[in-house]
Amino acid sequence: MPPLVRRLASLIAGREFARADSRPREPLKRAASPRVRLRTKCGAVAAALLGALALAAPALAANGGLTPPEPESPNAEAINDTYYLLLIVTGFVFVLVQGALIFFVIKYRRRNRPVEAEGPQIHGNTRLEVLWTVVPVVLVAIVVGFVFYKLPEVSDVSRAASEPRDQPNLVIDVAGRQFYWEFTYPDGRVTYDTLVVPVNRTVELNVTAPDHDVIHSWWVPALGGKFDAIPGEVNHTWFRAEREGEYEGACTEFCGLQHNAMTMRVRALGNTQYESELQRLSGSGQEQFNAACAKCHNVEGPQLIGPTLRGNPTLSNRQALAQLVRNGRNAMPPVGRGWSDTQIETLMRYTRRVAEAGNGG
Ligand code: CUA
Repeated sequence: MPPLVRRLASLIAGREFARADSRPREPLKRAASPRVRLRTKCGAVAAALLGALALAAPALAANGGLTPPEPESPNAEAINDTYYLLLIVTGFVFVLVQGALIFFVIKYRRRNRPVEAEGPQIHGNTRLEVLWTVVPVVLVAIVVGFVFYKLPEVSDVSRAASEPRDQPNLVIDVAGRQFYWEFTYPDGRVTYDTLVVPVNRTVELNVTAPDHDVIHSWWVPALGGKFDAIPGEVNHTWFRAEREGEYEGACTEFCGLQHNAMTMRVRALGNTQYESELQRLSGSGQEQFNAACAKCHNVEGPQLIGPTLRGNPTLSNRQALAQLVRNGRNAMPPVGRGWSDTQIETLMRYTRRVAEAGNGG
């Protein structure tokens, strides 16, 4: 065994095991035979391994494994690169430390040595100490350097330009609200829980929450990192979806009873489809209802968090509906505080239909 390794083992354990090995062994008082003890130990190790295996399967199966989703936006790519660098560095350290631990535990186990056996007293080893100071410093320096190199790619909104470059960025106001996401487009149109964007266009997000609301957090993993939606504050982020398709996200700040229902999606489309889809979504009272109302209210069937709406006269009474959604009632948050008359009217068109269908059936 190399002297450096023996020295390290001795330092960790405070004993000179290599020498202790050759000492005469004292007979031990035995409570159980070595074979029984060995079997108990093997049983414990097997149980621990089985437990780890049982937990590993669901962890690997959830969301397609332990790795982050494929990045579909430049900022998400930078985050992904950082993730993998950290994984490599920490993985290396983990294997090194755990490997050494297991090696020393087995190699220098007590065997039949008496518990009171004292090793020689040891004072330091300069070479080892320099080594275990310098290596971690270098590793941390690599991680810090790489993160600072990648950071502007992640957070610098002004650097992010659309493709082709002559297109202006699309600026969207994002409001996290109990318990839905409200997206306001430059021309004032509004969609709920679904953000529709043109593909390859840089989208700047002003993420916030209304003053009366609570903190939410915006996160669509394939399109970049998390940004808190804080009442009274605006956080800026951006993404550029490089592929047509739908990207799933969720509120990642516990914000109340229906936090789990506060999912959202970004739909990236070609230019013409984008226009027609935005038109459809922003005019859809049903989308609005599904986002702002249906998470707590069933139209038919059992009561969810709030009462089932079937036959409720408020659905077809414009003034009562506006009053209710703008002010809330009891446990119901003011989901429509700040809504324009157009927004109330859009919702009304749908709820009136629900009310009529309910009365007819
Ligand atoms: Cu909003 Cu959790």
